[in-house]
Amino acid sequence: MTHHDPKVLVTGGAGFIGANLVRTLLQHDFQVSVLDNLSTGRREHLQGLPVTLIQGDILDVRAVNDAVAENNYIVHLAAQTGVPGSLADPRRDCETNVIGTLNVLEACRHQWSQRIDADRSAGKFVLASSNAPLGRQPAPASEDKAALPIAPYGASKLAAEGYCLAYHGSWQLNTIVLRFGNVYGPFSAHKDSVVAKFFKDIRADGRLMVNGDGHQTRDFIHVEDLCRAVLLALRSNVSGEVFQIATGEETSILELASLVQEAAGVDACIEHGPARQGDIRTNYSAIAKVRRVLGWLPEIQLRDGLHQSWTWFDSYFAKHRS
Ligand SMILES: NC(=O)c1ccc[n+]([C@@H]2O[C@H](COP(=O)([O-])OP(=O)(O)OC[C@H]3O[C@@H](n4cnc5c(N)ncnc54)[C@H](O)[C@@H]3O)[C@@H](O)[C@H]2O)c1
Repeated sequence: MTHHDPKVLVTGGAGFIGANLVRTLLQHDFQVSVLDNLSTGRREHLQGLPVTLIQGDILDVRAVNDAVAENNYIVHLAAQTGVPGSLADPRRDCETNVIGTLNVLEACRHQWSQRIDADRSAGKFVLASSNAPLGRQPAPASEDKAALPIAPYGASKLAAEGYCLAYHGSWQLNTIVLRFGNVYGPFSAHKDSVVAKFFKDIRADGRLMVNGDGHQTRDFIHVEDLCRAVLLALRSNVSGEVFQIATGEETSILELASLVQEAAGVDACIEHGPARQGDIRTNYSAIAKVRRVLGWLPEIQLRDGLHQSWTWFDSYFAKHRS
């Protein structure tokens, strides 16, 4: 194998972001393997694609070592992916997000060490993180703010970020941390994120349940824009850095509800439930660093991205009619 064989392992590649990323990577001539325990991801997300799917767990050191072998690029998506799961079982959240990440980094350190000695550009490891490590910092989320996590999910992602940076500092592993905003798009029917939830609500009974007054804001990024950022990160010479990946734009949940109805071509009934405990009022990201260093900018407007996503959801619903 040469250093320049574009072979990539995507952990968690059968999930929402993974299903989209795998397609992007294939379009850019990567040979793709996926390590996924299929806990939330689905085999059907990869159906018909020239991808090696290894059904295994990132907590299984041998499975991780075998999966990392031969790959010089890693995108580490596999995780316990949300605040509620981390509140329900903080130990599992910690094991999956911290020890799981450590296992993948260790496999890279051992297997890439010779290559890295010979060529410092060999190997690239991209971690999927989020704004959760920043926790109670006021918006906008940015790389220069101290992490002040609120939920165990924020703490476990922060630890994973820390290990990525430490493996760069101690062993020159080429790691990059990407903190994703609220990602939406195709292959997210299994998710409980607000866009997926609204689409499913419309399909179920045409009622959109908004937590609290709906004036809380989020930064919604289309998964195709996000995948372009991951691709740039994989190919860049930059490492040991953290980047916010979002649009830099705030959208309130009520605005989103209106755009979702427009995309689906329906008039839904909006109902207000209680505000979620610990829900952050204003959340968006400053994206100057990724623009300057990686030359990345989001391109898909929320209105267009929601139309495209609804087309996918509509055909998903048609296929999965019970
Ligand atoms: N979707 C978002 O808005 C968002 C925002 C910020 C960060 N992220 C991060 O992006 C990554 C991907 O998230 P997603 O939205 O695609 O979620 P997802 O649940 O669709 O994907 C996660 C994948 O990881 C797999 N997985 C979970 N635990 C595993 C384990 N122990 N071993 C092997 N595989 C395992 C699941 O089966 C699934 O396929 C996660 O790290 C998540 O924290 C997502």
